[in-house]
Amino acid sequence: MEGRRRVWLHRWVPTRLAVSLPRRSGDLLVREFGPEDVDAYLAWRTDPRVTRWLLTTRADEATERLEAAEADPAGVSVAGVVDGRLVASGYLGVKDGMGQDVGDAWVGALGRVGYLVDPEWHGRGVGTRLLGVLLEVAFADLGMHRVLAGCFADNVASWRTMERHGMRREQHGVEDSWHAELGWVDGYEYAILRSEWKARRGG
Ligand SMILES: CC(C)(COP(=O)(O)OP(=O)(O)OC[C@H]1O[C@@H](n2cnc3c(N)ncnc32)[C@H](O)[C@@H]1OP(=O)(O)O)[C@@H](O)C(=O)NCCC(=O)NCCS
Repeated sequence: MEGRRRVWLHRWVPTRLAVSLPRRSGDLLVREFGPEDVDAYLAWRTDPRVTRWLLTTRADEATERLEAAEADPAGVSVAGVVDGRLVASGYLGVKDGMGQDVGDAWVGALGRVGYLVDPEWHGRGVGTRLLGVLLEVAFADLGMHRVLAGCFADNVASWRTMERHGMRREQHGVEDSWHAELGWVDGYEYAILRSEWKARRGG
């Protein structure tokens, strides 16, 4: 684990996306995730109240996934900080949409977001504020067309967070997801368009 973490820190690459960070939402400061965040992040990232709803449940794997995210120039990992304390983390990945070979409107037009909050801070609006910033980065900074996210159907806190931002449940996959404790369970896919996001903000 230690060795792996050293390699990871050595390989740290900041995002190459033209994002405007840090941003503030209420008391939450959202900035790019950095090597200095790793220990604080892993301290709660491995808590069962968090891992229960994630696909990556093991600490060593979580570290490697984060490394992969950072090494991926087509994405940005963010840290959510309140009073200097890391209370949340999120990711915005960039994907091409489906498109015909005329022009490039679909290139990098889709964003996929993920978010997690320190369990001690659950239910205090942190997840909502963090997702709000991720959507702002996707639409305002990167001009994306559409942002999507998925979750287990039983993860009520996650899909309520998305619905608070007007994201639409576009897919209810019956037993499309494997959960270590629950077995085959239903999954949801949510999305929002830039036009819808702008309309909610008054144009
Ligand atoms: C999902 C998560 C990010 C939400 O963050 P949060 O800061 O706790 O959420 P907020 O306080 O902003 O609340 C957002 C909504 O979720 C609801 N909510 C929060 N915790 C809840 C819970 N335990 N059960 C049911 N609803 C809950 C809130 O009531 C609110 O909805 P409402 O306003 O419609 O009532 C957080 O619970 C978390 O990190 N969970 C573990 C990791 C995870 O599931 N990540 C997402 C993977 S898809």
